[in-house]
Amino acid sequence: MSDLALLDGKRILLIISGGIAAYKSLELIRRLKERGCRVRCVLTAGGSKFVTPLSVSALSEEKVFTDLWSLTDEAEMGHIRLSREADLVVVAPASADILAKMAAGLADDLATTALLATDKAVLVAPAMNVMMWVHPATRANVTTLEARGVRRVGPDSGDMACGEVGAGRMSEPMAIVAAIAAFFAEQAPPRPLAGLHALVTSGPTHEPIDPVRYIANRSSGKQGHAVAAALARLGARVTLVSGPTHEPDPAGAAVLRVETAREMLAACEAALPADVAVCAAAVADWRFEAAGQKLKKEGGGPPRLVLAENPDILATLSRPGPVRPRLVVGFAAETERVLEHAGAKLRRKGCDWILANDVSPGSGVFGGDSNAVHLLTRDGNDVESWPRAGKDEVAARLAERIALHFTT
Ligand code: C5P
Repeated sequence: MSDLALLDGKRILLIISGGIAAYKSLELIRRLKERGCRVRCVLTAGGSKFVTPLSVSALSEEKVFTDLWSLTDEAEMGHIRLSREADLVVVAPASADILAKMAAGLADDLATTALLATDKAVLVAPAMNVMMWVHPATRANVTTLEARGVRRVGPDSGDMACGEVGAGRMSEPMAIVAAIAAFFAEQAPPRPLAGLHALVTSGPTHEPIDPVRYIANRSSGKQGHAVAAALARLGARVTLVSGPTHEPDPAGAAVLRVETAREMLAACEAALPADVAVCAAAVADWRFEAAGQKLKKEGGGPPRLVLAENPDILATLSRPGPVRPRLVVGFAAETERVLEHAGAKLRRKGCDWILANDVSPGSGVFGGDSNAVHLLTRDGNDVESWPRAGKDEVAARLAERIALHFTT
């Protein structure tokens, strides 16, 4: 995942302690903001000797917090909340003094109190004179902090502001950004489907009778949309071809909206090639030879509606050929002899897997939130029966199963 994707929307609490390197923290704020981070800053008394609250708040576009005893700040946001409303706490520069206080658990100002009260990970970017950095006290403090899981970036070696040469320069802002991104990369869920394209159909189709009327079915699109979201969460590039639904667009999926079965097939074919296709749409089997004008009541009885067969999208995608997805998954909604009928459907349509579910009256599946599912693989010879679960869980399980298929 790119730094941009990892950092976008992340909340950073940046503690700026005393040190000449504090000017580099202004640059750090800019780089983080550019990447979509929300940066809230705490400036220690020492830090404010090097950078002003005004420049920090101008760059962070947030109020700067400086004083543990500020009644206004505590009324607006207590220091505990300040320390928790972040995804990561960064101390840059981290002076020898603040490292010592952190190691000892002191809490005599806002920065150290927030550090003691936080339940979030902490990253320090030390900056100090080389003799202070190599001093056994600092060594011991850093060892203690690292043993507690505090993360560290730097310090670098080189010329120092004090005229000496050696380790103690704060890492460059972009190196700190990289360390922050590395932290979020470790936290990010695994993305076993990264690099794969998944095509998902969802929802009902609407088949017009005339320009104002259509037939539809009761599919809500919940299951298909949940599958699209679950595949995207595992890193797949997802194209969701959806009939008319009230479901919100799933995060991370490119959504193509269609109405009829023929439009759905055309959109699917245009989206190929795909590595995996999951057909969860309830596609109408029949369409009308739709009238060009609205059918009128007057004139001798009900109209004669002529039906034509719709394309079978699942069967079409399953057909052997150069653009056949490597894995094609269908759904089978059955009201009786569920496994037998689903197995026959798998073979008839030529897909690789079928998720069979019982939609007998009273099962509450259509439009409902839960689904009792059996996964048929290997020509329908292998059956996994999954416990009844919410449609989101079924989708997550299917996505995991697809990931397993592609990674083993
Ligand atoms: O034949 P039946 O409608 O029961 O098959 C269900 C499966 O076939 C589902 O995966 C559904 O999305 C797919 N299907 C399709 N195109 C059709 C009919 C069904 O893709 N015209």
